[in-house]
Amino acid sequence: MKLQAVKGTHDILPADQAPWRNVHDAARTVLERAGAGRITTPVFEYAEVFEKSVGESADLVVQKEMYTFEDRGGRLLTLRPEFTAGVMRAFIENGMHTWPMPVKLWSDGPLFRAENVQRGRYRQFHQVNFEILGLGQAVTDAEAVALLYRTLEACGLTRHRIRLGSVGDPTDRAAYNAYLREALTPVAEDLSETSRERLRLNPMRVLDSKDARDQELIRTLKRPLDLLGDDARAHFEAVQRHLRSWGVPFDIDPAIVRGLDYYRRTAFEAHYEGIGAQSALGGGGRYDGLIENLGGPAMPGVGWAFGTERVLDAMAQEDGGAAEASGPLLFLVPLDDEAVDEVSALAHRLRERFAVSFAYQRRNPGKGLKEADRAGAAYAGLLGASERALGALRVKHLASGEQLEIGLAQLAEFLEGRQAAL
Ligand code: HAM
Repeated sequence: MKLQAVKGTHDILPADQAPWRNVHDAARTVLERAGAGRITTPVFEYAEVFEKSVGESADLVVQKEMYTFEDRGGRLLTLRPEFTAGVMRAFIENGMHTWPMPVKLWSDGPLFRAENVQRGRYRQFHQVNFEILGLGQAVTDAEAVALLYRTLEACGLTRHRIRLGSVGDPTDRAAYNAYLREALTPVAEDLSETSRERLRLNPMRVLDSKDARDQELIRTLKRPLDLLGDDARAHFEAVQRHLRSWGVPFDIDPAIVRGLDYYRRTAFEAHYEGIGAQSALGGGGRYDGLIENLGGPAMPGVGWAFGTERVLDAMAQEDGGAAEASGPLLFLVPLDDEAVDEVSALAHRLRERFAVSFAYQRRNPGKGLKEADRAGAAYAGLLGASERALGALRVKHLASGEQLEIGLAQLAEFLEGRQAAL
């Protein structure tokens, strides 16, 4: 049998690492400048962490997307399908609710959902996740939305759009769900199977149907924004006011609904055209009540996550999106056996400051240069009997063919200058 990666998972090869690192660095810079600390939580949690948080009508539950298994002690464990629940568990367990508020936390890493695999939808994928805990003011919702926009911008995206909406307070949600149930139950027979199931469990989710017939049936119905209570409406307007004053562009989406149940009031997504049907780069919202649900104090929170694979797909669509491969600055070639020890010792010393590789065995100059070229090096450095006699290295700039004799004592200074010019 030929061994293969599990369907819906993927390897990230060395040549693909640079854009991944760019996303991580962009997130770290933007979020840490805004006062967030990084938190790393375990990849698996006791199943109840997710059962209690994502909600019984969440897509993850209804569509049985969670990887849950029994460990040897008979406890049910779940591979995390999202960060928020585990971060809340850690927040409570580590007493962070006693820290000065707000507490801002960010994370990145792999997540697992047993999804139907397609472009932008995988079984192991990655997210960058951000949460602001402890404050309920609209300015924190706006801060979260703005930081999602800015982080995507720092990744190099220019065409992402924020869709902003509100799912209201729990009473507004209940009123809207009751309204939808009343409107749609008489035509339930005509709805798609998924929407019929949603109508039973969480009617609001019917709005998110991709089925054309469903969309026709709901076209004339009211949207969640039409039924917002006074408090949720004032909150929603304040969020918009802040975003406008900070120059963060957004579009109002009166029908935004999210696949997780814990949202209240503000809900938002970032979208990008040109990456296939799964155009949502990320999403989030306010989730007051979640910390309490998980056994912590009653404390508000707001946050988001974006999918790294989808962001990388979008980055590849932008002009100049392809990242250049980075090889070593210098590749050392020993021209005789004695030089193997010499170049290896030299490489180890130089690596304190530069990227340096070397051939592990004696090479003739032609083969050595070819090897340096294949490694993606900017310069090759050859050392044999004649160079040894001069106490120098024969250095060749691979792109131009320029050749120089550089004294070993001057090598670091030479590399310093050339590195700056790259
Ligand atoms: P979510 O909308 O379930 O929210 O996921 C956020 C993003 O993760 C999506 O917009 C998408 O880009 C990416 N994503 C989700 N599933 C997959 C998949 N199977 N393959 C590839 N990418 C995927 C959450 O996870 C919430 N925890 C966000 C949040 C944080 N809300 C508050 N705080």
